Amino acid sequence: MARVRRVFRCRSCGGAQARWAGKCPDCGEWDSLEEESLESGAHRDPQRGVVEAWESLREGDDVAGVRAVPVSEIAGNEGTAARIASGIGELDRVLGGGLVPGSTVLIGGEPGIGKSTLLLQAAGGMAAAGSRVLYVSSEESAEQVRLRADRLGLAEQAELFVLSDTNLARIVEQTRRVSPSAVAIDSIQMVYLGDMAAPPGSVTQLRRCASDLVFLAKATGIAVVLVGHVTKDGQLAGPRLLEHVVDVVLGFEGDRSHAHRVVRAIKNRFGTTLEIGLFEMGGEGLAERPEGALGALAAGHASRPGSVVCPVVHGTRCMLVEVQALTATGFLGAAKRKASGVDSNRLAMLIAVLEQHAGMRLADRDVFASSVGGVRVAEPASDLALLLAIAGSERRRGLPTGTCAVGEVGLGGEVRAAAHFEQRLREAMRRGFACAIVPRESAGAGPSGISLIGVRDVGQALEHLSETPASL
Ligand code: TYD
Ligand code: MG
Repeated sequence: MARVRRVFRCRSCGGAQARWAGKCPDCGEWDSLEEESLESGAHRDPQRGVVEAWESLREGDDVAGVRAVPVSEIAGNEGTAARIASGIGELDRVLGGGLVPGSTVLIGGEPGIGKSTLLLQAAGGMAAAGSRVLYVSSEESAEQVRLRADRLGLAEQAELFVLSDTNLARIVEQTRRVSPSAVAIDSIQMVYLGDMAAPPGSVTQLRRCASDLVFLAKATGIAVVLVGHVTKDGQLAGPRLLEHVVDVVLGFEGDRSHAHRVVRAIKNRFGTTLEIGLFEMGGEGLAERPEGALGALAAGHASRPGSVVCPVVHGTRCMLVEVQALTATGFLGAAKRKASGVDSNRLAMLIAVLEQHAGMRLADRDVFASSVGGVRVAEPASDLALLLAIAGSERRRGLPTGTCAVGEVGLGGEVRAAAHFEQRLREAMRRGFACAIVPRESAGAGPSGISLIGVRDVGQALEHLSETPASL
């Protein structure tokens, strides 16, 4: 008789514990352990499937055409040629050129951010290009999906199939019937397998449904896209468990009160994770917003204290991002440092540099720093801009209008060269910036047409902050 073994699985890190505890011993998360029952014996013996498959195969058979070959025999560009492009350039670039057949992609994002919209638009794009797509909605009815498709102008796509179901067995059955190139499951949290007692969305169901879908993808060559909700602290619910079973993890981020949305690759087995895709949510769904429209100060705007523009590089593209800082009265020993869209460790480091090397007293000042427009700025090349923003806010001074800043700041207060220097300056020039504060060593290296002010250390950089009219 099958013996039932009890395991408590952490919803956050996926670690298994023999007994329940209020706090996960592995990751320290509170109230995250959830019971998972494993029947040893017949039910979930992973080897059994393999043995059966082995025995049922005849000599020369390949499961789904997969076979081990010498690496030299693999055609070089086959992978890219076979990709299924959605026609949405910003999304395809993040994916590395489109969906790879047989791969599984997980898109995570907060509820209401626009995951269903993005996915339906991508499905519509693929259908328009001739690839059959099955869009499975486990949260909305087929009529609701139809309404959305109407709004997005996709209602006439003959190759776009819609299914509203939550039962994985039926979803797989319909996938077989429709025989699409790609299946989108929106969302994986609502899908369940009837043979398990655990409720939909539980760790047990999530793991099992996701791994069955990964298997389906691998076995049939159908690309599978899963939507996963993110919990309020930014974790994919049932998170790490899904992150490693899938091939690509995309994050869909943005502020719900703003129209800008950013798609970012968190993991990509078929491409770089440096690329980001920029969108804007409008009345007719998501519109692509290549660089520019991100709320960065245009060059002509009068500059403000505490706000500095920096050209940042994401993958192959460069864009201008406005970095802002605000300093306010705090309490010595309990001063706040809050970062949104910028790296909090670098913020702390830059505050320390200002204290040590520029004689600025910030120990009892609250410091808030953010990037405008929802693009996360994590590059060291934005150090100088952030530092000038903090110092500018504290001293009520700004850079001259039409000036941006590029450079990495070292712990000794020195300003160092940044990678992709020329590309950054060209983008700044294209957007109308006439002047840039740059590391001294790079001052001779920029394109002509933009004047460069070389600075050796933070002291020299701060000299370029000037009093701005009181009305600003
Ligand atoms: P949705 O894709 O349902 O979000 P998610 O699947 O991530 O939960 O859409 C979220 C919001 O987008 C919703 O509040 C309405 C808005 N929206 C638009 O502004 N324009 C549109 O064309 C569509 C379809 C949605
Ligand atoms: Mg949705």
